[in-house]
Amino acid sequence: MIFVSGASGNIGTAIAESLRARQVPFRIGSRSPNSINAQDNMEVVPFNFLDATTFQSAVQGCNAMFLLRPPAVANTKKTLNPLIDVARSQGVRHIVFISVAGAGDNPIVPHYAVEQHLSQASEGWTILRPGFFAQNLGDAYREDIVQDDRVFLPAGTGRVAFIDTRDIGEVAANILIEPTAHQAQTYTMTGAEALSFNEVASILSDEMGRAIAHQPASIPSYCFHLLRRKMPLEQIMILTILHVGLRFGQAETVDDTLPNLLGHSSRSLRDYIQDHRHLWLKTQ
Ligand SMILES: NC(=O)c1ccc[n+]([C@@H]2O[C@H](COP(=O)([O-])OP(=O)(O)OC[C@H]3O[C@@H](n4cnc5c(N)ncnc54)[C@H](OP(=O)(O)O)[C@@H]3O)[C@@H](O)[C@H]2O)c1
Repeated sequence: MIFVSGASGNIGTAIAESLRARQVPFRIGSRSPNSINAQDNMEVVPFNFLDATTFQSAVQGCNAMFLLRPPAVANTKKTLNPLIDVARSQGVRHIVFISVAGAGDNPIVPHYAVEQHLSQASEGWTILRPGFFAQNLGDAYREDIVQDDRVFLPAGTGRVAFIDTRDIGEVAANILIEPTAHQAQTYTMTGAEALSFNEVASILSDEMGRAIAHQPASIPSYCFHLLRRKMPLEQIMILTILHVGLRFGQAETVDDTLPNLLGHSSRSLRDYIQDHRHLWLKTQ
């Protein structure tokens, strides 16, 4: 039995699909378990990172766990780390944690404390450090693309080696099922090519059949734009720092680890857009 946190999210959905396809039994932990239909090989239990009383029953009887830090959970020392302790005490032998590229030497990111805690053990964990998600186009950038036909970011001419979360999910599922070769390993993973946002806009325009422009934003105009969208200040700050970092090449380095772990080539940004065209249709 494998416990999967964050199963309704981008990566978790892909993991659940992989495990279901391979008929591996797994248990989903959710804050709203009644909204999820249990299927063959799959259990659903109440689970909340902010409520430690849900931890034990979530991981009991499991030998592996997929651990995801939800974007809204900031204090990982009081949430994810206690879950790791409970899981280990309940016999979970392997934990796959989704961190973020660069987290290893950046104590400011919430994933850092989890990496430190996990890696105190000499085995029983694998850390995945993905780069920038292609799925951001369908999450954070979606409203701008659908309503204004533009990608509006303070990223300048920075290039990004977008990774598809379906590839991350596939890798994570493989490791959860067969962890032996991945004991105490940390993998940085990116997509196969770094694209500028002009190129992203051009692929979007191609695939959607209408003009979608990259309109570079200044830092103040971006913050003001997000404020008008009623985004909380903390999130505005995080998004701004992240995207300004792209100007300086923070997400442009291509790493060839991902295809090696997948055993085949990774999905391109165009693959992602082609498979999710419905997200940017004007009729939404
Ligand atoms: N975006 C990027 O470019 C990028 C790049 C590298 C790494 N990352 C990292 O990837 C992670 C996000 O992955 P994702 O996109 O797959 O996540 P996501 O789509 O935002 O989904 C978050 C999941 O967490 C669950 N969740 C939220 N709050 C919870 C709580 N208090 N207790 C239990 N479950 C909770 C949500 O379930 P419900 O809402 O249904 O309860 C949902 O399943 C973050 O740690 C982020 O830093 C992101």
